[in-house]
Amino acid sequence: VDGRADGRVDGRADGRADDRADDAVTITVDGVPVTGARGQSIAGVLMADDRRDWRTTSVAARPRGLFCGIGVCFDCIVTVNDLADVRACLRRAQDGDVVTRQHHLLPGADA
Ligand code: FES
Repeated sequence: VDGRADGRVDGRADGRADDRADDAVTITVDGVPVTGARGQSIAGVLMADDRRDWRTTSVAARPRGLFCGIGVCFDCIVTVNDLADVRACLRRAQDGDVVTRQHHLLPGADA
């Protein structure tokens, strides 16, 4: 810890670390900036922003978001930095990530 002469850390009188802006990450979701805490998954950032769905199913276009939360169900997939099918519950949000919703039709399906 980078100490100060008065023993305080980051300027708080109680010596605890501040909830500092550098502990935040900002991603864009369909072009909209969303801020979360460093270390959160993309799903965590989305849920904290009151988003409950971020893709639609291929056949019936039903909304999907977090379901299992542990990387098993693939309900939470999003496109991150042009990479499709990223499980939002497993991918840690990185500052500047560009996240877009997914809706992929099954091969041969009409739009
Ligand atoms: S919520 Fe099930 S894989 Fe992400």
